[in-house]
Amino acid sequence: MLGASGFVGGGLWTYLTHRHDVVGTFATRPVAGLVRVDLRDERRLAELVADGFDLVVHAAGLVPLEAAEADPELAHRLNVRPVEVLLDAVRGTAAKLVLLSSDNVFDGTRHQYTEEDRRRPVNVYGRTKVAAEDLLLAEGGHLVVRIPLVFGRGPWSNSFLARLAGPTTTARTDLVCAPVYLPSLGPALARLWDRTGVVHYGGSDVVTRFELMSGVQQALDLPTRVVATSGQEAGAGCRRPPRLVLRSTRHPLLGPALGPALAHLAGLPRT
Ligand SMILES: NC(=O)c1ccc[n+]([C@@H]2O[C@H](COP(=O)([O-])OP(=O)(O)OC[C@H]3O[C@@H](n4cnc5c(N)ncnc54)[C@H](OP(=O)(O)O)[C@@H]3O)[C@@H](O)[C@H]2O)c1
Repeated sequence: MLGASGFVGGGLWTYLTHRHDVVGTFATRPVAGLVRVDLRDERRLAELVADGFDLVVHAAGLVPLEAAEADPELAHRLNVRPVEVLLDAVRGTAAKLVLLSSDNVFDGTRHQYTEEDRRRPVNVYGRTKVAAEDLLLAEGGHLVVRIPLVFGRGPWSNSFLARLAGPTTTARTDLVCAPVYLPSLGPALARLWDRTGVVHYGGSDVVTRFELMSGVQQALDLPTRVVATSGQEAGAGCRRPPRLVLRSTRHPLLGPALGPALAHLAGLPRT
């Protein structure tokens, strides 16, 4: 599991490590039990994944959209090039690669997106995800799992809740998503990882970013004021697809509805 120190990777790690023999990695945020690897250290990365794994789940890379937009070259080095290295390393072995990709491969102009829909990224992050997907899919036998915005409390990395850490936060009313709840990802992945090609895993409910953030703020009774905003008010920044709803023609799985997910989140210990 590459990127086990991250928000999504941490959630997956917590689920998988109780059921499988998993080696997880970190880069800059050490976590007990994880091994350090930098995606740019190609020899180390190749040696690590060539170690007889059945599955290599790749959840590492440059994720904040603004960071990718600000430095496209770094985004390529962290999101695309490592996939080539991984493919070279596992070629001819029994290992299957599972790449976590994103709904940002789409432009957000359609009501919803299935695996058959054409990708048309509108930002650097989305373009790196398309490039990484293409590498993996050209090879055959591997799997791309596209996921939407993930919400919840990570075991050690709380990049989602960090947005609600200050006294106020803004959330867009003109961005629509079908977010998935972090704890649902591990079980979903385990049910999908026998597949090859592309699968989508979306959340049941379709909400605006403002509705999601307000729901989380209320569920956790946080002192943060969530202020509604729109792209116009937020300024130019990084282009974001306005409506991203992932649906699948390949399986019936969907993440839990927002209400039960928020109730579960509210009951988790706060670390
Ligand atoms: N979060 C979402 O809502 C969301 C939505 C769709 C898709 N995804 C996909 O899910 C995956 C994980 O996202 P996330 O939200 O968990 O991101 P994150 O919290 O930023 O975690 C990123 C992970 O990548 C690692 N990493 C970063 N630079 C690295 C480098 N140079 N070498 C090795 N590892 C490096 C980080 O390690 P350190 O922290 O130790 O440096 C961390 O483990 C990504 O592929 C992302 O595109 C996420």
